[in-house]
Amino acid sequence: MSSSIDFTLNGQSVSVTCRPDTTVLEWLRGDALLRGTKEGCAEGDCGACSVLVKRKSACDEETKFQAANSCIMLMGQLEGAALITVEGLAQSAPDGHVVQQRMAENGSSQCGFCTPGIVASLAGLLDQNNAPEDSDIHDALAGNLCRCTGYRPIVEAALSAAQGSNISLPEITLEAAKTVVGAEDESVFHLPKTLAELLELKTKHTDAVLLAGGTDMSLDVAHARARWERVICTRDVQELQGVDIAQETLRIGGGVSWQTALPVLQKHWPSFATLVRRFGSTQIRSMGTLAGNLATASPIGDGAPALIALGASLTLASKSGQREVALEDFFIDYRQCDLAPDEVIEAITIPLPKPQQEFRAYKISKRYDQDISTVCGAFSLTVANDTVSAARIAYGGMAATPVRCHEAEAAIKGCAMDEATLSAAKMAIEASFQPMSDMRGSAAYRAMVASKLMERLFADLSGEAVEVMSL
Ligand SMILES: Cc1cc2nc3c(=O)[nH]c(=O)nc-3n(C[C@H](O)[C@H](O)[C@H](O)COP(=O)(O)OP(=O)(O)OC[C@H]3O[C@@H](n4cnc5c(N)ncnc54)[C@H](O)[C@@H]3O)c2cc1C
Ligand code: FES
Ligand code: FES
Repeated sequence: MSSSIDFTLNGQSVSVTCRPDTTVLEWLRGDALLRGTKEGCAEGDCGACSVLVKRKSACDEETKFQAANSCIMLMGQLEGAALITVEGLAQSAPDGHVVQQRMAENGSSQCGFCTPGIVASLAGLLDQNNAPEDSDIHDALAGNLCRCTGYRPIVEAALSAAQGSNISLPEITLEAAKTVVGAEDESVFHLPKTLAELLELKTKHTDAVLLAGGTDMSLDVAHARARWERVICTRDVQELQGVDIAQETLRIGGGVSWQTALPVLQKHWPSFATLVRRFGSTQIRSMGTLAGNLATASPIGDGAPALIALGASLTLASKSGQREVALEDFFIDYRQCDLAPDEVIEAITIPLPKPQQEFRAYKISKRYDQDISTVCGAFSLTVANDTVSAARIAYGGMAATPVRCHEAEAAIKGCAMDEATLSAAKMAIEASFQPMSDMRGSAAYRAMVASKLMERLFADLSGEAVEVMSL
C-alpha cells in the first residue's frame, strides 16, 4: 500500500508519489522540471537551492513562509505544507515578485546562479518583516553565497523592494498532514501527531531513522546518497513543540527549532541568542532543532557548551516512562550519548537566570556566519561584591565531547575577579585539556583560544566592550 505526499506547490494542490526520502531539490529539478532552483554544495551551505516553505505548527497554528534549503529537505517533510519556488514567485505578479523586479533593475545579479536562492530568502524575509533594517537583510542572506555580484547591490535591491507594494506572499490554506506517506515495501515516512504515537513507533521500529529538521541527518541523503526504508519525523508531535516557563525554569520541547527558541533565549540570555544567530543560517535555524543538535553528540556543536554552562537537563521519554539526565552527563564519548534506541528527547529544561548571574558564550570559527565552531566557550558566573560565588564553565571543540571544566570553576570560585584569579583560571584550563588537531585548528591553537576566551570573559564582565569575531 502506498500513500502520496500531498502539498501545495506554487499555489496548486499536488499529490506526489515518490520515495519520501528523495530530496526536495532532486524532485523539483528531476520530476517537476522546475529547474530555476539550483544545486551548489548539496550540503546546506550555499543557499542556491533555497525555496520557501510554510506549514502548520504541531499546535495547528499557521506559520509564515520561511526560506529552507531544498537540498537537505526531504519530500516527506512537505506533506501538508506549501512550497514556493522561484518560478512561483515569478508568477506571483505580472512582472514577477517585487524582489525579482528590483534585483533585475538594480544589476544585483551577474552569472545568476545564486539569484533564485537569494530571491527566495529575501521574499521570505519581506513576508515576515515589511520594514527590514540592513542587519535583518544581512541576516537573511547569511546562508546565500554570491561569488560574483557582491552583496551591496543585493542589499540595495532588498531595501528598495521593501518600499514596494505586494511584498506579502499569497495566502494559502494548509490541509492537515497525514500521519504516514510512502510505501511499506520501499520507503515509509511517519509523521506522528502525539508523543504516544511517536514512542509506539520508536519501540516498534528501533532501526528507523528519527528525523527532526534533518539539517544534520539529511546530509547522508544529499551527499552520501543514503536510502532510508523508514523515517519517523518529530515535526508534528504536539507535546514536543512547546516553549514554556514554569517554576523558575524554561522548558523547550524536543521538536522546537532554533529560530522558534531565539526570542525567549534573547530575553533571558542575550549572549546565547548572539551565539544562536551565528548558528548556520536562517534556513538552517528554522529547520534545525535544539534536540537534534544535542543528539548528534558532536564535540563542536554549539548548543551543548551553552546549555551545560546554564545547568540544563534533558527529559528522555520511552514507552516505559521518563527519566531526567543532566546534559553534562548525556555525552558519553565521541558522537555517543546516553540515549536508548527506543528513547527520544522530550524536552530540554534550563534554570532561569538568578540575580547577579552573568552568562556569556563565545564562538570562534573560521567565518563569522554559517560556520561550525573551532572552539566554543560558555560561562555562567554569579558575581556579588566582585567575588565569584558560583561558576559553571563548558567548552566545545576541546575534547571528544562537549565538556564542563570543573578545574577552571574551582580556580575562580570564592575569588575576586582580578588578575591573579584570571591567571589561575587560565592555568587550570591549560592543565585540563589535550585538544585534538584537525583542519579547523591545531591542538596548540585550540588550547590558546580556550585560555584567551577566559581573558575575554574577565574583560567583558569588567565592562570592557568586547565582540568576539571569528579568528
Ligand atoms: C550548513 C549547516 C550549518 C550548520 N551550522 C551549525 C552551527 O553553526 N552550529 C551547530 O552546532 N550546528 C550546525 N549545524 C548542524 C545542525 O544544523 C544542527 O546540529 C541542528 O541543530 C540539528 O538539528 P535537526 O533538527 O536538523 O537534527 P536532525 O538532522 O533531524 O537529527 C540529528 C540527530 O538528532 C536525532 N534527534 C532529532 N530529534 C531528536 C529527539 N527529539 N530525540 C532524540 N534524538 C533526536 C536524530 O535522530 C539524529 O540522530 C549546521 C548544519 C548545516 C547543514
Ligand atoms: S545546494 Fe547549497 S545549500 Fe543547497
Ligand atoms: S551572481 Fe554569480 S554567484 Fe551570485
